[in-house]
Parts: sequence; structure tokens; C-alpha cells
Amino acid sequence: MVTETPETTAGPGGADTQSNGGPTGAVPGPGGGRVALVTGANRGIGRVIAQRLAADGFRVAGTHRSGDVPAGVLGVRADVTDVEQVDAAYKAVEAELGPVEVLVANAGVTRDTLIMRMSEEDWDTVLETNLTGTFHVVKRAARGMVRARSGRIVLISSVVGQLGSAGQVNYATSKAGLVGMARSLARELGGRGITANVVAPGFIETDMTADLDEKTVAGYQAQIPLGRMGTSDDVAAAVTFLAGPGGAYVSGAVIPVDGGLGMGH
Ligand SMILES: NC(=O)c1ccc[n+]([C@@H]2O[C@H](COP(=O)([O-])OP(=O)(O)OC[C@H]3O[C@@H](n4cnc5c(N)ncnc54)[C@H](OP(=O)(O)O)[C@@H]3O)[C@@H](O)[C@H]2O)c1
Repeated sequence: MVTETPETTAGPGGADTQSNGGPTGAVPGPGGGRVALVTGANRGIGRVIAQRLAADGFRVAGTHRSGDVPAGVLGVRADVTDVEQVDAAYKAVEAELGPVEVLVANAGVTRDTLIMRMSEEDWDTVLETNLTGTFHVVKRAARGMVRARSGRIVLISSVVGQLGSAGQVNYATSKAGLVGMARSLARELGGRGITANVVAPGFIETDMTADLDEKTVAGYQAQIPLGRMGTSDDVAAAVTFLAGPGGAYVSGAVIPVDGGLGMGH
């Protein structure tokens, strides 16, 4: 694993970390210097979540398979489907910043097609990334959080996990599974001071939705009470709430960030 920036250092466990100008110390703010890890922090929603957490005073690490994490974030290479890469990434973060106190499991993929055309590979790729990959990062985070008797786990699901979506049987199944995962974690780990919640975005402008044709986008917008697609900032605001002081007594919740599309589901 080699990062693309010249400023790399091999972390313990073999993970490469990318210094990228920070994080160097606690910035005043609601994060209070607590350590947060965001998966898929190189682009899209995860990138903006990492930036917002850093701006709020968290010391932030972000996983990336490709590209770079934003300035002020510690980059660690990891494919979430590979349990050894996940462990190496955690070891690198723990060595550089300390134990992970906030986990945002954001990495995800789509392989959309109708059920009759959906291949085993389409199914496996989406379930292995969105559901099993999240299990890997959550399980590894739980170790340190249980020891610390404190932690915040935020899983990025989707409105379609509850609404369903034609052409997304694999994706909707994976995202619905995250709700069961978070609620089980909330019950299992609540006694150790750990919260577990889901943020369920609607249609957000990122690479994931960039290929949708104008007619499809117009169709979606017509169903959204607020009449627009969301932004990564809209999603990051909910995540920073759950990670910050305001989220202390929120657990087992599914927080929609969808302009009203799912009507609270
Ligand atoms: N955009 C939307 O409308 C929308 C709506 C609801 C929910 N969501 C969810 O929000 C999350 C972020 O979506 P996005 O729109 O920001 O998507 P995106 O722009 O396609 O970015 C996906 C991110 O996940 C990473 N990733 C994918 N597979 C990975 C793996 N196996 N291991 C590690 N990282 C992996 C990608 O890394 P690489 O760059 O290396 O591929 C990238 O950083 C996803 O879970 C998605 O399902 C998005």
C-alpha cells in the first residue's frame, strides 16, 4: 500500500499514513480534540464529514483507497472489505492520534440493476462493502470504545434502506441491514457509554448520483418536499451533531437527511 503523496510514513501494522498537514493538535470546538475516524474520506460525503469534524475540533483520520484525504486529516489506506487492512489502519491511527472515539462508517458502493439482471458479483460487491465492510470497522472500533467506556458510532445508510428502490435490491438490503446493526450495537454497547446511530441521506449530489440522467433527477426532485437534491454538507451537519455534545443522549436513532423524501423513515 503506497500513498500518492510524497509525505508518507509507514505506520505500525504496515498501514501507510499520509501526514497531509495535520491533524497536529486539538482545535477549540465541540470536538474537544477527540479522535474521529471516517471511512471513504477521499471524496463525496465522507470527505466533507471529515472536513466538518476537523473544523469542529476533532482530530480526524480518514481511510482512502484512492485519491487524498482533505488537508488537516490523517490519511490511512484501507479497503473496508479487507479485515487485515482495517486492522492496520486502526493501528496506524492509534499510534498517531490515540484510540478512535468516534467512528463514521461512510464507505459505500452501488451496483444498480434490476433483480433479473443482478449478478452474484453485483450482490456480493455491495453487501461486502456496505454491510460486511461496516461490520469490520465497527468491530475494530468497539474494542477501544468498550475499554474507554465511551464512544460514538455513526453508520451512513440511505433513504432507500427504508423506502426500497427499483433497481437497488442489493443496495437497499445492505442499507436496511445497517439499521439493524446500529440498533443492536446501541443495545449491546449502551451500558458502556457508547451510542450507535444511523444517518440516512436522501439524494445527495456526489459522484454516486452524478450519472443519473436529467429525467431521473427531475423525477426524484418532484418527490422531495424541499424540491432539491441534498449536499454533502447537509449530511455532515447531522453527523457532527451525533458526534458532538448534542448527541450525547441519542442512540438507536435513524436520522433522515433527505429533504422530507422518506417522511421520517
Ligand atoms: N450520494 C447519495 O445520494 C447517497 C445517498 C444515500 C446514502 N449515501 C451513502 O453515503 C456514503 C457516501 O456516498 P457518496 O455519495 O459520497 O459516494 P462516492 O462519492 O461514490 O464515495 C464513496 C466513498 O466510499 C469509498 N469506498 C467504496 N468502496 C470502498 C471500500 N471497499 N473500501 C474503502 N472505501 C470504499 C470510496 O473510495 P474510493 O474513492 O477509493 O472508491 C469513496 O471514498 C455511501 O455509503 C452511500 O451509500 C449516498
